[in-house]
Amino acid sequence: MPAKREYAFTRADFMALRRLVVDHTGIVVTDGKFEMFYARLARRLRLLGLTDFKAYVARLREDDGSELIELINAITTNLTGFFREAHHFDYLADHLVPRWAARPGVPIRIWSAGCATGEEPYSIAMVLLERLPDVQRRDLRILATDLDTQALEQAQAAVYTTEQMGCLTRLPWRRWVLRGRGAQEGHIRMRPEVRALVDFRRLNLIGDWPLRREYDAIFCRNVMIYFDAPTKRVLVERLADRLAEDGHLFLGHAESLIGLAPRFRPVARTVYALVHPTKPAPL
Ligand SMILES: C[S@@+](CC[C@H](N)C(=O)[O-])C[C@H]1O[C@@H](n2cnc3c(N)ncnc32)[C@H](O)[C@@H]1O
Repeated sequence: MPAKREYAFTRADFMALRRLVVDHTGIVVTDGKFEMFYARLARRLRLLGLTDFKAYVARLREDDGSELIELINAITTNLTGFFREAHHFDYLADHLVPRWAARPGVPIRIWSAGCATGEEPYSIAMVLLERLPDVQRRDLRILATDLDTQALEQAQAAVYTTEQMGCLTRLPWRRWVLRGRGAQEGHIRMRPEVRALVDFRRLNLIGDWPLRREYDAIFCRNVMIYFDAPTKRVLVERLADRLAEDGHLFLGHAESLIGLAPRFRPVARTVYALVHPTKPAPL
């Protein structure tokens, strides 16, 4: 027998919530997420003083958008880590940084699309600080975007627990973190030089992108796995449009582009370069 719930939550409520989620985020919610939805959203009902999920759905439908942000914050999966999928950071350091180093004076723009709590853009920043000569004098920016406002707040604060440090305990990376003392014991913060390279912004990958630049590298890792195939295809096309001529796209380990994007060719494990219509890739 399932435990008695504090709030009535029917299948119709779940279906309505998952429709709102997919329409606003592209995230496809599977049947197996029923309990997770209840567990994560019961707190919202409590805070709003609502008596059941039917009332919560009604509230979302007549909302000005602010409760929708809370819904999205509650259901997104923000799992990430410093230097997650380390081979991408090796590729960045060994292939892209030398290329950029050979073009002094040329601006460098990188986009971490779906940056969650910031470990990904800060890892990119540390690679550049370590490996790009004259890094402090380069016109270099890392744009880091996500849909989840809570994750973005944490990212901007740049404070992590020592358990989240992972390889940051080792050189050279530990040079780029400050260790908390006293009341801050058990926490680290990214150094100002690292934070200074990253601009955080809320951006919905299935909405409008108010971006003016082209990017030399786009990291869009472990985001598309939550989308259906047509949404993925459109997103990959739009990412291709935002890449500079010799730009690279980094995807998550489960996000192969095979059969999805003829405009890209693989150059390393889940790293892709644009194929140029004027310069077709050799067969
Ligand atoms: C699993 S995390 C991946 C974090 C990081 N890229 C990594 O690989 O470690 C996925 C992130 O994608 C974000 N996300 C999901 N749908 C999104 C959308 N439509 N627009 C922008 N971000 C989205 C989530 O909020 C979450 O922070």
